[in-house]
Amino acid sequence: EMSPEERAFQEKIDADIKIEPKNWMPDAYRRTLIRQMSQHAHSEIVGMLPEKNWLTRAPNFKRKLQLLAKIQDEAGHGLYLYSAMETLGADRDEEVAKLHSGEVKYSSIFNYPTLSWADMGTVGWLVDGAAIVNQVVLQRTSYGPYSRAMIRICKEESFHQRQGYQILLHMMREGTEEQKAMVQESINRFWWPSLMMFGPHDGDSPNSAQSMQWKIKRMSNDDLRQRFIDQTVPQLELLGCTAPDPDLKWNPERGHYDFGEIDWSEFYAVLKGNGPCNRDRLRTRRNAIENGAWVREAARKHAEKHNKADAA
Ligand code: 3HC
Repeated sequence: EMSPEERAFQEKIDADIKIEPKNWMPDAYRRTLIRQMSQHAHSEIVGMLPEKNWLTRAPNFKRKLQLLAKIQDEAGHGLYLYSAMETLGADRDEEVAKLHSGEVKYSSIFNYPTLSWADMGTVGWLVDGAAIVNQVVLQRTSYGPYSRAMIRICKEESFHQRQGYQILLHMMREGTEEQKAMVQESINRFWWPSLMMFGPHDGDSPNSAQSMQWKIKRMSNDDLRQRFIDQTVPQLELLGCTAPDPDLKWNPERGHYDFGEIDWSEFYAVLKGNGPCNRDRLRTRRNAIENGAWVREAARKHAEKHNKADAA
């Protein structure tokens, strides 16, 4: 039975009135938003690592600049999302500590290695492409600060996807046979893990029902995944490449592409920390925070001295 406050809250949600930081909200609404927004922010920050791997080995200066710009965007997206998360009373250092202890998640996709330059195209095209499908819909999430962060992030993400696809199109049109094979090999490695970014099937999603009722989630995991596949297959064909899925086929009755079953044992193994790069990613993030502690300490001391001088 809902309390009068809960009923008033749900009526706002049903009327598509945004919930703002100062508004009353159920504790569970606050908690699940901190859960999702912190993990979303962690994904942006950890998501810089696979691309950093190729920053010093980009084939030319233009590609290096594009990759650097994309990585800097992702750092910014992470900071927007941590700030939006803090409006719910969450502490950034505490949430980052949970990331480092392995207590909370970040997107599984970033636990896969980037083994060739073609991966920089595939990551931009498939990984940012999947993230965009998710984030465009998340612009309509019921929590105001999260919705506004999404609107701003989506403006920058579309450049990431186009830049990635352009790398692959260039390699397929102008590249040598080895470079074309490199593109196909890269797609073979990233196809299924990109589909896993949308989460488990709706029936296996513990958070979806409540998130949909509170309009945190506006489209289900499976519907977003299907939308991503439907828009991506034509781009795959334009590349002249294939997906590593023999069951991928247009279904005229459904008006969607049918596709094979995802390997959920791989998905849950990666979530449990047993993906190819999980340990490496967390070690790198821990080192970055620890190695940067002296800079933050010096900046704090400097600010205190300055403030004292000002106050005097
Ligand atoms: N990787 C890691 N964890 C995942 C996951 C994935 N691909 N998919 C689901 N999970 C986790 C969920 O977080 C949840 O665990 P938790 O309760 O401990 O948080 C559990 O698996 C069950 O999944 P649910 O479907 O019940 O969870 P949600 O309702 O939260 O749905 C989600 C999962 C669709 C990822 C949702 O949280 C979401 O939309 N998050 C915001 C989008 C996001 O995080 N995107 C990251 C993509 S990468 C990125 O944005 C960077 C870009 O620059 C490339």
